[in-house]
Amino acid sequence: MMLNTLFHDKKLIHLQEIDSTNEYAKSLIKVLTYVSEGTTIVAKNQLHGRGQMGSSWESNPCQNLTFSVIISPKILVVEQFQISKIVALALISFLNQLGIKNTSIKWPNDIYIKEKKIAGILIENILKNNKIEHTIIGIGLNVNQVDFTTKNATSLQLITSQAYDLNILLANFIEILERNYFLLKSNQHAVINEAYLKNLLGFQKERKFSTSTEQFKAIIIGVSSMGKLQLQKDEQLMEMDIKEITFL
Ligand code: BTN
Repeated sequence: MMLNTLFHDKKLIHLQEIDSTNEYAKSLIKVLTYVSEGTTIVAKNQLHGRGQMGSSWESNPCQNLTFSVIISPKILVVEQFQISKIVALALISFLNQLGIKNTSIKWPNDIYIKEKKIAGILIENILKNNKIEHTIIGIGLNVNQVDFTTKNATSLQLITSQAYDLNILLANFIEILERNYFLLKSNQHAVINEAYLKNLLGFQKERKFSTSTEQFKAIIIGVSSMGKLQLQKDEQLMEMDIKEITFL
């Protein structure tokens, strides 16, 4: 298998307006007997964009990229976080190629530039037996929007003072994603893990966290294959799920 040939007959579906590109991707998988890997759904205006943990994703019409890519990784459910890693790393490479510095991955997979979030990822898996049959990789990337209602958001234009062509950016990103997906398909887990930790905000550093009952400081020592954050608090090692902990 050659590099760059995983997404065979790439299909790009442009939508004017939709509730959520992830939902659209899910319904596509339901009605079609075959969906080619790399099929991408991109919306100019997403009316009910969904974020992680039941949150919503706000994006002004026509200013940003809101899209979903379908892959069929057929990897074990216990390896699912590898998908998050390759997607987050693709966004980091993509930003670095645009000359943007100070990028990092905030666990589990938010993309930050310094203290501000530029992109979010919502991964949804469709399982068959103990394998991942299809994955919907939903990405919201802030591009040309300059006013945000949330304080900690940023965009490409806010950082570089220049406007971008959304279609060109999307094509560039998909190419990088495809390359990273190849790393996963060829079982290069050590390469993926090393790159993820290298870009992980606060890795091997002491950070503040909160649970429903307490606030505490702990050192980030890694991330499990299921995506749990591995922490060292005093002498104690612990693994926390995204539902159990907030990274302050
Ligand atoms: C997050 O940071 O909470 C994840 C945000 C993911 C947003 C994208 S936009 C395209 C795709 N469709 C959705 O409804 N959500 C994702």
